Amino acid sequence: MIHKMILGAVVALAAAAIVPVSAQQATVVYPTVSSPRVLEDFGGVEGIRALMEDFERELIASPATRPFFANRDNTALKARLVEQVCQILGGGCSYTGRTMAESHAGMGVTEAQFYALVEALQAAMDRRRIPFTSQNRLLAVLAPMHRDIIAR
Ligand code: HEM
Repeated sequence: MIHKMILGAVVALAAAAIVPVSAQQATVVYPTVSSPRVLEDFGGVEGIRALMEDFERELIASPATRPFFANRDNTALKARLVEQVCQILGGGCSYTGRTMAESHAGMGVTEAQFYALVEALQAAMDRRRIPFTSQNRLLAVLAPMHRDIIAR
């Protein structure tokens, strides 16, 4: 419940404050978190890699997201997620995947499924004892992506 409220606040804040740097270009450049402390809290690139393994397990455990992630090879997806999160947290990686709009087109992702994915990520971050403030720094950058991911 508290999690949900804080998430709501993060989403509202992010929607108001963050606009992709180059929304008009083919490749959307997302804002980065410049504080090295946040990357440290995630355990660096190795920590992000481990987080994505936990995240995959949470996504498969959650009924709302399971249909998208079970019974498929998520190796490439996890590699892209590591790049994306590492880039956002200033870990010196470059995201090599497609845009969020391209990669989720035609998937029919609902708002409920989007929030279930965010909750799966929060559960994975909690399990790795990533401090709440650092979790929210990442979520603030991911939240606005809902515009490109939720089907309408
Ligand atoms: C902020 C939220 C999200 C982020 C940051 C995110 C990130 C990504 C990334 C980086 C990729 C790889 C794209 C590529 O390889 O070019 C991807 C693919 C994918 N995403 Fe998401 N995603 C989000 C939300 C969701 C949601 C809510 C669902 C479904 C419930 C979902 C389902 C998938 C699936 C199934 C793929 C694989 C597509 C394929 O293999 O072609 N994503 N996502």
